[in-house]
Amino acid sequence: MVDQITDKLGRPIRDLRLSVTDRCNFRCDYCMPKEIFGDDYVFLPKDELLTFEEMERITRVYTLLGVKKVRITGGEPLLRRNLYQLIARLNEIDGIEDIGLTTNGLLLKKHGQKLYDAGLRRINVSLDAIDDEVFQAINNRDIKASTILQQIDYACSIGFKVKVNVVIQKGVNDDQIIPMVRYFKEKNITVRFIEFMDVGNDNGWDFSKVVSKDEMLEVIEQEFNIMPVRPKYYGEVAKYYRHKDNGALFGLITSVSESFCSTCTRARLSSDGKFYGCLFSEVDGFDVKALLRNGATDEELERQFRALWRVRNNRYSDERTEQTVVNRKRKKINMNYIGG
Ligand SMILES: C[S@@+](CC[C@H](N)C(=O)[O-])C[C@H]1O[C@@H](n2cnc3c(N)ncnc32)[C@H](O)[C@@H]1O
Ligand code: SF4
Repeated sequence: MVDQITDKLGRPIRDLRLSVTDRCNFRCDYCMPKEIFGDDYVFLPKDELLTFEEMERITRVYTLLGVKKVRITGGEPLLRRNLYQLIARLNEIDGIEDIGLTTNGLLLKKHGQKLYDAGLRRINVSLDAIDDEVFQAINNRDIKASTILQQIDYACSIGFKVKVNVVIQKGVNDDQIIPMVRYFKEKNITVRFIEFMDVGNDNGWDFSKVVSKDEMLEVIEQEFNIMPVRPKYYGEVAKYYRHKDNGALFGLITSVSESFCSTCTRARLSSDGKFYGCLFSEVDGFDVKALLRNGATDEELERQFRALWRVRNNRYSDERTEQTVVNRKRKKINMNYIGG
């Protein structure tokens, strides 16, 4: 039976983000820069990753605390072998109402149908530009935007509900906002622009590279006739707008300029099986995998998960200022372990 838990700041737990691999077939500058994640970079060995059985068990126990939604992320989750089997397992869990996947989209044609057949319906595709050259300069793997657009078309054609996420960096891809709003409006696909965040330690972030929601909105309003849409649920991170003429939606995610810590209901499990209460956590998450592999019972797991959530007080983005970013010497978990 569900006994909904809240953390130190009164926030319930509702979502679980599972990172299923630390590997990726892209080298996005802001996430896995190629200078650091080069040919000799050592990724996690297979036995350090949680198995599907372990993820299923963890998720089942988390439903007792109030988790209703699971999001699969990475690294690039479509690189995890037989991912559809995990989807099928999660789909069977009582209390899980929604499963989503965040992917760079490159392998959707290869794996999409199996994932759909296993019960997945919602996919977020990360695509940071619609111009091939701009996109290639970001992903550092020579992948063209047009290739990802074809994968998106394919995913839509087999029935997936697709949203597109775009991380905007000043001077890098802010010229992509208007063409992307236009393209996805015509396709009636929701595109969401995300403020560039200071996750991890390796992405060269600073405030001057952030294009704020207000700046993005100003640009979009000059070109399109839009109106704001009311939030659908507690903790919704995107602010949505509707095109008045055809009803298509787009969103802005204010991860920096208007933080959403106060309604953050997400627990995260990194690819090496550690619990994190925040995207900006320090590197030493609680080792859930060790607990499992030392033979913990479901009751022990539940007790530990409750204890972790009860003391959660993270509100990094609320506290972020120029000064805290400069002063913060501590190491944060890298995005390819924890998955956005
Ligand atoms: C880490 S990726 C993992 C899943 C998959 N590989 C993908 O790219 O969608 C998850 C999301 O985090 C976003 N992300 C990574 N680093 C970010 C940053 N510094 N600021 C904002 N979003 C970031 C990515 O753009 C992507 O949408
Ligand atoms: S954002 Fe996604 S696609 Fe890009 S390097 Fe990170 S994990 Fe890979």
